[in-house]
Parts: sequence; C-alpha cells; structure tokens
Amino acid sequence: MRVILLCLSLTLSATPSWSQEALGLAAPPEVADSGLLQHILPRFSLKTGIRVIADDTGVLVLESGPPGDPVFARDGVIYHLRIGEDAKHERFRDWLLSDIGKRTVEGFAPETGAPFSAEFEVAAVQEEVVVDGDAAWGEELSMTHCGRCHVIGPQNRMNGLGSTPSFAVLRAMPDWSERFEAFFALNPHPAFTQIDGLTLPFDPERPSPIHPVQMTLDELEAILAFVSVIKAADLGAPLQLQ
Ligand code: HEC
Repeated sequence: MRVILLCLSLTLSATPSWSQEALGLAAPPEVADSGLLQHILPRFSLKTGIRVIADDTGVLVLESGPPGDPVFARDGVIYHLRIGEDAKHERFRDWLLSDIGKRTVEGFAPETGAPFSAEFEVAAVQEEVVVDGDAAWGEELSMTHCGRCHVIGPQNRMNGLGSTPSFAVLRAMPDWSERFEAFFALNPHPAFTQIDGLTLPFDPERPSPIHPVQMTLDELEAILAFVSVIKAADLGAPLQLQ
C-alpha cells in the first residue's frame, strides 16, 4: 500500500509542464475558422511546453490591425498580436516572429482561401506611444528642469534658448520617446544632468558648467507622460525652431 501511495505521489509531482494552465488566444473569425491556429498552436506547445489554445476570451489577442506586433497577413490584412507583460506571452510572440514560426504559419494550407504569409510590408503607421505617468507633474518638472533651454509649450514660449529645439518639435519626431528616455545621455545633457542611481557623478575635473539638472527616473517618466500628450509641431511646415 505504501508503495502504491508513493508511486501515486511521484506521478502527481512529476506533472509535466504540459498540464499548466493554457494561455488563451483570441482571434478574428476568419483566422479562427481557417484552421491556422490548430496548425500552429500544437507545434508551439510541443517546442516550448507552453500550452496556448484558441479561446475568444484569451489573454493573447490577434486582431486585424494595430496595436500590437504584426505577425502574419492574408488578403491584404495584417494581423497583429497583443500580449501582456509575461515571459510566456513574449515567448509566443517571439516564436511567431522567428524563422521557425514563420515557416509554420506559411506551411499551413487552408482548405479555403489564400494561405497566410509571414512576409509582408507594414505600412509606416506610427504607433501611438502610450506612456503611463503623471502628465501634470511632468509638465511642472519640464518647466523646472528643461524649461530654461527648451520651449516646452505656451507656458514658457518666450523663454527657451533660440538654438534649442522646442518640445513640440522633438515630439514630432517619430522616435521622440526614445530620445526623451535617453536624453541624459544625449548631448548636451550629460555635462549637466544627473539621474539618481543611473548616471555617474560628474568628473570632479569637469563640474557641471551650469546649475545641474538633478532628477529621478520617476520624474523622467512623468516628463515622458507630459510629452506624450503635448501637440507635436507640424514639421510639414517650414521648420521654425521656436
Ligand atoms: C542647458 C540647456 C538644456 C537643458 C536644461 C535641457 N536641454 Fe535638452 N537639449 C538642449 C540642446 C541645446 C539640445 C539640442 C542638441 C542638438 O541639437 O545637438 C537639446 C536636445 C534635447 C533632446 C533631443 C536630443 C537628441 O539628440 O535627439 C531631448 C529629447 C531633450 N533635449 C530633452 C530634454 C529634457 C527632457 C530636459 C529636462 C529634463 C532637457 N532636455 C533639458 C539643451 C538643454
């Protein structure tokens, strides 16, 4: 009897990762009905031990447009995958975008309709960058930390330095969020900017030439939130820096 119990508990504890709770994947009807998911999901699960099943209420969502990562296309529609912040979700997305994933998608021959394609041109739609954070606080911080050089908006329209791009001009750049996230590393800021826990102290030989900008990452996040909601300058018009 003992032996049997032991065996039983061994089997239970050795449960393969297979029986983990499955991740649901919601898809538009034309994808769900095509059979594509039944073709790709078991293959992904086999490779990774992560179960993904077709499920309309899924945490993973395929849709016929942005936001999300474009993953495959058919009949001129580019399907985008939206995932959560979770390592398994990312694994699924990365697999879909990998060579093996793409081949698996393209290897599927639907009974009706055109095959799915994993090579497609994504029109240069600009993804809206959504930034969490306190935009109102970010506005105040922008005034204090950045407003002596940058025009941050009507708030200090007359006070910026002529040679310095306004926030509206920077906001109009497609990669504005990357620039702001890294501004402390982009000239001229390193000479006078300190972000707590991130930048090295100034070289004692070369102290900040001006009253330094000293701030935290939380404050930078708030500034990003503020910049995300300001109106971009119309760069179609002749570029007026101020
Ligand atoms: C002492 C003046 C000064 C202050 C203070 C300042 N900047 Fe700048 N910033 C500049 C100048 C000048 C440029 C243009 C550099 C260039 O064109 O090479 C610039 C450029 C930038 C750029 C574009 C960088 C790039 O290379 O694409 C960003 C983003 C930026 N600033 C953000 C900020 C933020 C955010 C703050 C406040 C936390 C700030 N700046 C504070 C002077 C300043």
